[in-house]
Amino acid sequence: MSAPTLVSASPAPASAAVPFEVPDAAPTAAELLDFVRSVAADPERVAQLALDPLDRSWIRLEGPGGAEAWLLGWPPGTETGWHDHGGSYGAFVTAGGELTEESLAVPLPSEGWSSLELAEGLDRTRALPAGKGRAFGRNHVHQVANRSEERHAISVHAYYPPLPLIRRYLRDGRTLRLDVVEHPETW
Ligand SMILES: [Fe+2]
Repeated sequence: MSAPTLVSASPAPASAAVPFEVPDAAPTAAELLDFVRSVAADPERVAQLALDPLDRSWIRLEGPGGAEAWLLGWPPGTETGWHDHGGSYGAFVTAGGELTEESLAVPLPSEGWSSLELAEGLDRTRALPAGKGRAFGRNHVHQVANRSEERHAISVHAYYPPLPLIRRYLRDGRTLRLDVVEHPETW
């Protein structure tokens, strides 16, 4: 499998390769997955989320070991767009309806570039019906969508460390271009 081709890149600071040190007590990705699964399997907790017919809705949760966590509602046809998680790792699971995750089969640097031309064959698509989810690493780039035209989807997400930022990308064929960087005060 080929690595993605860098089209343009600026030198990244030396700290970019290891954006944070994971403390010994930090929750593992497997523990984050256990957490989101346990919330998704609890109908009373899931029912606390009020679904909006047009907009995504959310409740912030207390994640394990200081992790950031969310219960999210997805109206039909909504999607995140391509993004990363600023170097955090995490997990998510569908609690109701079905989500579709489109992701890349290679980890991408979470800083130091503005445009990438992806090699062929890196796209992965997975359907995540209720009860299905995944953990992901620090350099995971994906988009998540509710492709249903009729049904809401509900999902549970956890990130460690709490998201320092999210980089949003525009995808045009095999080209991924940095669009905006969002910081926690904007979500
Ligand atoms: Fe994400």
